[in-house]
Amino acid sequence: MNLRYRKTIIAGNWKMNKTPAATRQLIEELKPLVSKAKWCDIVLCVPFVDIPNAIKATKGAKISIGAQNMHFEASGAYTGEISADMLTELGVKYVIIGHSERRQYFAETDATVNLKVHAALKAGLRPIVCVGESLEQRDLGITIEHIRLQVKSALSGVDSTNIKRIVIAYEPIWAIGTGRTATSDQAEEVCGAIRDCIREMYGARVARSVTIQYGGSMNASNAAELLSKPNVDGGLIGGASLKPADFATIVNAANQ
Ligand code: 13P
Repeated sequence: MNLRYRKTIIAGNWKMNKTPAATRQLIEELKPLVSKAKWCDIVLCVPFVDIPNAIKATKGAKISIGAQNMHFEASGAYTGEISADMLTELGVKYVIIGHSERRQYFAETDATVNLKVHAALKAGLRPIVCVGESLEQRDLGITIEHIRLQVKSALSGVDSTNIKRIVIAYEPIWAIGTGRTATSDQAEEVCGAIRDCIREMYGARVARSVTIQYGGSMNASNAAELLSKPNVDGGLIGGASLKPADFATIVNAANQ
């Protein structure tokens, strides 16, 4: 973290978990546990149908609501899809774009990720853009090249005023849901490389201000160590975000 230059953001990605009623309950449990968090922003990225309850339950609390996906078109014949304007009208502030599960199971590509980034920014949403290498790519020694390509493609055509509204989440695919976390040095190396890439594209001042999260089996016991690294500005948390006490421990680790 580097609180002098950028916000620390702890975001939960609930994935396909929790019904609308369970959403209300989880947030009611979480709220008192994170009420003292002043130095980091808290975001909960919930399933689409849970958004209205999540917005209601977080009213007056310092917790923002995010979606986990959106379509890049504003409207039209795209059965089953959700547009950015539909999200903002409900009070959604963030949207996860290009999560590796969407790339893997729903054929999302760097090109669609870029279209979604532009559509989200246009609608006033803050995109949380996910990048990450597979185990095979890591073993081949091409992690940094792969990540740089993903970052450059995702940000293509985004100007320097808008880049500050983007959050990048480094999520190594091999660490997601596996219990196998990247070491804090591995996380720092790649988050630092992402910042270098942004520096080359937008200059040092802009690069300093961008929040870069780590995600992948981040939990109550390893969060403080990961967040102690200068280029790790928060977390995108799956499993542990469904447990209020664990998520609160991570938030409080970021609130030092
Ligand atoms: P886990 O924290 O369950 O590994 O999930 C990470 C993730 O994919 C967050 O987007």
